[in-house]
Amino acid sequence: MKPIHILNGPNLNLLGKRQPEIYGHDTLDDVATLCRQAAGGVEIVQRQSNHEGQLIDWIHEARQDASGIVINAAAYTHTSVAILDALNTFEGPVMEVHISQVHRREAFRHHSFVAQRADGVIAGLGIEGYAAAVRRICQLNRKD
Ligand code: DQA
Repeated sequence: MKPIHILNGPNLNLLGKRQPEIYGHDTLDDVATLCRQAAGGVEIVQRQSNHEGQLIDWIHEARQDASGIVINAAAYTHTSVAILDALNTFEGPVMEVHISQVHRREAFRHHSFVAQRADGVIAGLGIEGYAAAVRRICQLNRKD
C-alpha cells in the first residue's frame, strides 16, 4: 500500500503555540505520531506549507505516490478553488480535517471548497480528527 499523505496549510506550523485556546497545545509532530499509530503499518508522510502553490504541487505528487490524502488546508479551505481543482485530479480517498469546530466559528469559516471533493469532513475533534481520517482512508482502501 502506498503512503497516506497528510497535508497542512498556512499557520499550522505554529500548531501548539498559535491560539491554543482554539487549537490546543499539541504540535504537528504529535499529529504525525497519532497518525502513525492509526495507520496500522501504512506509511505516513506529513507536510506543511504556508504557500498555496506548494500545497498544489504536493497534491499533484500524491497522484503517483499516495494511497490517500488527509488535508487540513487551514484558511485556504475557505478561499481556494485552485486547491479544489488539484484535489479533483487525485483518484484516491480524500479526507478533510479541521482541528476546531469551524461551524461554531465565524461565518466565513462555514464554507469549504475542499468539501466539494472530500469523501469525509471532520471538524472539532482536535488533532484526533487526523487519526480518524487516516483510519477512514485505510478502511476505504481495504474495500477497493
Ligand atoms: C482550521 C480552521 C480554519 O478556519 C483556519 O483558518 C485554520 C485552521 C482548523 O484546523 O480548525 O487555520 O483549518
